[in-house]
Amino acid sequence: MSQKHILIQGAARGLGLALVKRLLADQQTVITATAREPQASQALVALRDDYGESRLHLQPLDITDEDSLIDARRTLGQRHERLDLMMTCAGLLHDDRGLWPEKRLADIEPANLARSFAVNATGPILMIKHFHDLMTHGERAIIASLSARVGSISDNGYGGWYAYRAAKAAQNQFTRTASIELARRSKNLICVGLHPGTVDTNLSEPFQKNVPERQLQSADRAAGHLLGVIAKLNREHSGRVFDWAGKEITP
Ligand SMILES: NC(=O)c1ccc[n+]([C@@H]2O[C@H](COP(=O)([O-])OP(=O)(O)OC[C@H]3O[C@@H](n4cnc5c(N)ncnc54)[C@H](OP(=O)(O)O)[C@@H]3O)[C@@H](O)[C@H]2O)c1
Repeated sequence: MSQKHILIQGAARGLGLALVKRLLADQQTVITATAREPQASQALVALRDDYGESRLHLQPLDITDEDSLIDARRTLGQRHERLDLMMTCAGLLHDDRGLWPEKRLADIEPANLARSFAVNATGPILMIKHFHDLMTHGERAIIASLSARVGSISDNGYGGWYAYRAAKAAQNQFTRTASIELARRSKNLICVGLHPGTVDTNLSEPFQKNVPERQLQSADRAAGHLLGVIAKLNREHSGRVFDWAGKEITP
């Protein structure tokens, strides 16, 4: 029985945590789960204690700090020679430092744009920069960065949400660009963006009242959908963005 080595970035809560729970149910998985402070997540620590260090390793990683990625890469490289799946789950829509989805041009603040870009766009491409060499082994491997439908320029009919929309559009462009370079190193390395749907997490919580109940998914359900989409990906899909139902989102 061959092991599957998996890296889940942003695993302390929300979708990342739900993905770790689902992936652990498969006996073949060996998971590295990262968060800024993984030991502060009771849920993650409890999973590590239940499944053991050999199945679930917790690794600190701040996606906005490149030295932290370099440390994480070094540690992972000492434990494993390869990765089969990497999922980057970091996302930032609002924070307690004044970042909030902008309704109008007057709401745009350069510092907020910079924070949004650091987490939603720069972070995911830095993950690919530092971990792709563990994934060019020639066998099927997947890099999936969680994106959002609102990052689609052609689908933008409502306006607003400047920072998040633009940062996710930039993330999608990074994914596409990396997929072209990586295809030259391994035809079986597939690099995609995934939109999880509207999911009941901290990120969506302030906006849920406008979402019809049947459209709001639990993190566990959304994680199941995303893993289903990943299972069906082939090399023709690399560089593209798909929603939780497997439908392509146009750039
Ligand atoms: N929920 C939705 O309805 C929805 C819809 C469309 C797209 N998405 C996307 O899905 C992804 C997961 O979001 P979620 O709903 O699970 O949100 P969440 O519960 O708010 O989780 C946000 C995640 O981002 C991580 N993060 C934020 N800043 C970070 C940093 N500097 N370094 C490392 N990690 C950082 C957090 O890690 P820490 O625990 O370390 O803070 C956490 O894992 C995001 O990319 C989001 O844009 C979500």
